[in-house]
Amino acid sequence: QSGYITLDYGYKNTGATTSAITFLDGEEGILHYRGYPIEQLAEQSSFLEVAYLLIYGDLPTKDQLAHFEHEIKIHTLVNEDVRKIFDGFPVNAHPMGVISSLVCALTAFYPESTNPDRNQEMIELTIIRLLAKMPTLAAWAYKNSQGHPVNYPKNSLDYCSNFLYMMFALPVEEYEVDPVIVDAMNKLLILHADHEQNCSTSTVRIVGSSQASLYSAVSAGINALWGPLHGGANQAVIEMLEAIKNDGGDATKYLNKAKDKNDPFRLMGFGHRVYKNFDPRARIIKKSADQVLGKLGIKDPVLDIAKQLEEAALSDPYFVERKLYPNVDFYSGIIYRALGIPTEMFTVMFALGRLPGWIAQWKEMISNKEPIGRPRQVYVGSTKRDYVPLDKR
Ligand code: SDX
Repeated sequence: QSGYITLDYGYKNTGATTSAITFLDGEEGILHYRGYPIEQLAEQSSFLEVAYLLIYGDLPTKDQLAHFEHEIKIHTLVNEDVRKIFDGFPVNAHPMGVISSLVCALTAFYPESTNPDRNQEMIELTIIRLLAKMPTLAAWAYKNSQGHPVNYPKNSLDYCSNFLYMMFALPVEEYEVDPVIVDAMNKLLILHADHEQNCSTSTVRIVGSSQASLYSAVSAGINALWGPLHGGANQAVIEMLEAIKNDGGDATKYLNKAKDKNDPFRLMGFGHRVYKNFDPRARIIKKSADQVLGKLGIKDPVLDIAKQLEEAALSDPYFVERKLYPNVDFYSGIIYRALGIPTEMFTVMFALGRLPGWIAQWKEMISNKEPIGRPRQVYVGSTKRDYVPLDKR
């Protein structure tokens, strides 16, 4: 082939596309969704309004939002054939594995979504179905892990309240939704909603670029997000903080482990490929952690350990030189825990939040008619050699 191949492991300096959805400035710690600062959206918007903004490009009018919310409500139910798939999962199946399988199964249930010349109507229906059914599938994955009966969605509830109800309601008692928990969940989902070309979004784009269905592309994105270096970090952070607490709570000891190249231990929730001064989402979540725990009257010792770790790292040359700061995953698990979300569901919460971003990026790629993703390589293997018959080897 003529021309040069630029080798760029991890695509650290490669722009894979143009996009009008999310703007990041890593040096200044800026994050905008369609031009709106994340700080304003986190304080003033709702998750479904942000989902609309990301997917359709503008903040909705009152009627547009009402219609969008109504469309989602009428598609929240997941049919019994999908629920029967749950019966096949063992109780200890990780919820991320369960929802990635079920989201992919939606391709089998809605085969028209794989039609290459998807018309606009089919695209819109596929988007609404996915936004509506993912919370139900996520809550059912949790119920499956508890060996509890599933709860069907209640359309009298808003998006976050419905999810919390499906997650926590039990047949034996009434479930009251706590507005403090709903508000905190709303904010967390907004903060996770999109983040330009991160690992899982790039996965959704590349799978979607082969004209696979949106369900298949998002199922692949869920699996990419699951990795501990990406969205799986929020679960890894809590496990790390718990380990530090159980080992006497000595933050410095673990900071030194993280600096030791011979020690595989990493300070989970620290560092970012793009943000080199601070992650604006981490700032908002840290503030919110204090507020939520205060309102719920919860004292969580790992929050103090997290703050000690952050303080020590911010004055440690190893971290300062490498521009390592807390990222979105560092404090989010502490809030999820305060909301009663179990650790194994933390990354599922990340996936619920990121879903509108994945959808918006897939939709942008489809409407821009971008080519199938197919990077090149620099070959470093054997030069040409002839086959040696088995009896001669
Ligand atoms: C998310 O891309 C996105 O936008 C992702 C995300 C999103 O919203 O989609 O923001 C969500 O995934 C946040 C990141 C969650 N992951 C973690 O918290 C896991 C711990 N962090 C690291 O593994 C790492 O910082 C990454 C994966 C986040 C970034 O990896 P990079 O950019 O490839 O950086 P690197 O691994 O090349 O590290 C550079 C240096 C290395 O040291 P040297 O070889 O230069 O001596 O920093 C060191 C690394 O060893 N380093 C760390 C560290 N992170 C990087 N050392 C100790 N602890 C860490 N956490």
